Amino acid sequence: MIELTDVRKVFPARRGAAEVVAVDGVSLSVDAGEFAGVVGPSGSGKSTLARTVNLLERPTSGRVVVDGQVLTDLDDDGVRRARRSVGMIFQHFNLLDSRTAAANVELPLELAGVAKAERRRRVADLLDLVGLADRHASRPAQLSGGQKQRVAIARALAAKPKVLLCDEATSALDPASTTGVLELLRQVRAELGLTVLLITHEMAVVRAVCDSAVLMDSGRVVDGGRLGEVLVRPHSKLAAQLLPTPPVAGLPGDLVRVTVTDTSPEGDVLRVLVGELGFDVEIVGGSVETVAGRRFGRLLLQVGGDDGRLDPALQRLRDAGSLVERADPADDPAPWREEEPPEPASVHEPYEPRFLDAPDVQR
Ligand SMILES: Nc1ncnc2c1ncn2[C@@H]1O[C@H](COP(=O)(O)OP(=O)(O)OP(=O)(O)O)[C@@H](O)[C@H]1O
Ligand SMILES: [Mg+2]
Repeated sequence: MIELTDVRKVFPARRGAAEVVAVDGVSLSVDAGEFAGVVGPSGSGKSTLARTVNLLERPTSGRVVVDGQVLTDLDDDGVRRARRSVGMIFQHFNLLDSRTAAANVELPLELAGVAKAERRRRVADLLDLVGLADRHASRPAQLSGGQKQRVAIARALAAKPKVLLCDEATSALDPASTTGVLELLRQVRAELGLTVLLITHEMAVVRAVCDSAVLMDSGRVVDGGRLGEVLVRPHSKLAAQLLPTPPVAGLPGDLVRVTVTDTSPEGDVLRVLVGELGFDVEIVGGSVETVAGRRFGRLLLQVGGDDGRLDPALQRLRDAGSLVERADPADDPAPWREEEPPEPASVHEPYEPRFLDAPDVQR
């Protein structure tokens, strides 16, 4: 459904500032109906990448195909028409404060020239879908953050898109509203057969809803895939973000990381290392989470008493199907997850009528 090939976006140098390579040769494929995440530190190019999918940012080079249509080959008019099949929601909702919830949802239908009776019917259906039928006359200021995002989702769905882009759509919400909005996204994905590309810095969001994800760093995709595959991939940087264990750098001794899945041979690692081979093993950290509907765990073990027997023991465990690896400081997750301060909710992104095809109105 979404096919990016070697997409680059360079913002030219301006007023003394050097040029910025925001997206640096990204290829990415998202299947129809897939829920795909894009994660990475601040400034790594996530939003810019998402904006190339509907050509809000025209790539400097590379190819963007959505639903079989090569968007990068279209002229501006063609892009504007094609953009209707891609809805978008944002961190700060971008609702018009002067309009009611219903009138916000109605706006893209007005811009697309849909007749009034049909508009009213569609708006009622959409507000019903997002669970806000009773709040149709409320203005954004009278709604909670979660409700505002529901209105924004209804608005994004008004043009019956095939793809929904979500840029930090839950980052300004409290945990309960986040859960509600994610459940709604899953529901509309299932009911409407949408393909969802979700930009986030919250790993819990990826664990809860995504089928696949890519990790970006400095404009490049550095890791990614179906989550079930990523989590069992040796030395995966994305797995380190999804299921964190304590940083290895600074810890003494031999460190071993064990990944446990619902199909791993049970209890083998400790039985062999401690029971059979007599190593001193201390569990120094780990996490167990449900990811993409399956249980996964990662444990960090500190192993004492190695006299050259540890590597053969690990090899033997791997041969028997266990996921064990020596933990390497190079695998430590970058600290961006904790460091990123939430943006103050009062800072509104500029309202972008471009994504609602505003130029159509003038014709
Ligand atoms: N319109 C623009 N002009 C110039 N530089 C830009 C523009 N938009 C983004 N950039 C730069 O491109 C890089 C990637 O920005 P982008 O917003 O895509 O990152 P991000 O991963 O979404 O970050 P965050 O997590 O903070 O939202 C940054 O260095 C940013 O400063
Ligand atoms: Mg961003």
